[in-house]
Amino acid sequence: MSGSVRQFDSPESLLKALEGAQYICSRKIATTLLLALHLGKPVLVEGPAGVGKTELAKKTAEILGLSFIRLQCYEGLDESKALYEWKYGKQLLYTQILKDRLNEIVEGETSLSEAVRTLHLHDDLFFSPEFLEPRPLLRALQQSEGTVLLIDEIDKSDEEFEALLLEILSDFQVSIPEIGTVTASSHPIVFLTSNDTRELGDALKRRCLHLYIPFPDAGLESKIIAVRAPGISDLLKTQIVCFIQEVRKLHLKKLPSISETIDWARTLLFLHAECLSSDLVNETMTVFVKFESDGETIRENMTNILQKTLRVSGSRP
Ligand SMILES: Nc1ncnc2c1ncn2[C@@H]1O[C@H](COP(=O)(O)OP(=O)(O)OP(=O)(O)O)[C@@H](O)[C@H]1O
Ligand SMILES: [Mg+2]
Repeated sequence: MSGSVRQFDSPESLLKALEGAQYICSRKIATTLLLALHLGKPVLVEGPAGVGKTELAKKTAEILGLSFIRLQCYEGLDESKALYEWKYGKQLLYTQILKDRLNEIVEGETSLSEAVRTLHLHDDLFFSPEFLEPRPLLRALQQSEGTVLLIDEIDKSDEEFEALLLEILSDFQVSIPEIGTVTASSHPIVFLTSNDTRELGDALKRRCLHLYIPFPDAGLESKIIAVRAPGISDLLKTQIVCFIQEVRKLHLKKLPSISETIDWARTLLFLHAECLSSDLVNETMTVFVKFESDGETIRENMTNILQKTLRVSGSRP
């Protein structure tokens, strides 16, 4: 366990450090993170879009003073993009430059097969670390100081890739046939995120601590807005948060997330708004509404939501 991890010995100490890095989270998130750091287990983070899954990994790297390596997953992602690849261009260039020397080596050979055999003896020259392009997973194992590795949106990758990942997450080592085994001298802190587009395998889940980040409650969202939209008045902040919390109770195609609440708060701050009104919401809701039909539903419920918002914020009895 590295020294930077040892400085955190309670959920509170992590909460405070994350807050200092402008990431406001619940005690449950901090407790899971503390366990992950001390048990050396990967964390599988799930939850709706925009609730801070990726950000949690980034901020963890920041508070631990570690580098941050991200592997963005997609369909068709394979070893050559995730683990390592040979630098074919460089290999080709070197064989061109060394053409004369290579000719000298095979000069005495009478048959093609003998020439190939002789060249084989020099294979390791071109399959050595200088010609290896490490991709995120290998780079993470090579960081002697440790690192935070984010395997983002793992559910978008194929099942074969999940199998490869299992191997790496179990042993923190990878075998490169031409070079040998690379073992991490310091285990990376691993986060995996998923938006649940496909069910992940049990084997992978078993190796990870599971963390579900839901939409924040009003108290937490209020704190997030205070930090991410500094300068906002208490009244406007309370109204924005209450309005969004009520919108999340509607049946929408896409519920507004933390990122949208932050964007809306910044927009209203920019417009020097003092409090919410039906006109103001109508004019600015493009910031948090992603489908026309959702906008319609919000407009239909506008009077009710605004009444509740104004009551909660004490603007109207
Ligand atoms: N708890 C939080 N405290 C402060 N800012 C937050 C928090 N959660 C989210 N944010 C902000 O919201 C934005 C979206 O967060 P992030 O990209 O981590 O979401 P996500 O869950 O990874 O979404 P997706 O599933 O779309 O990738 C970020 O810009 C981040 O700054
Ligand atoms: Mg993300």
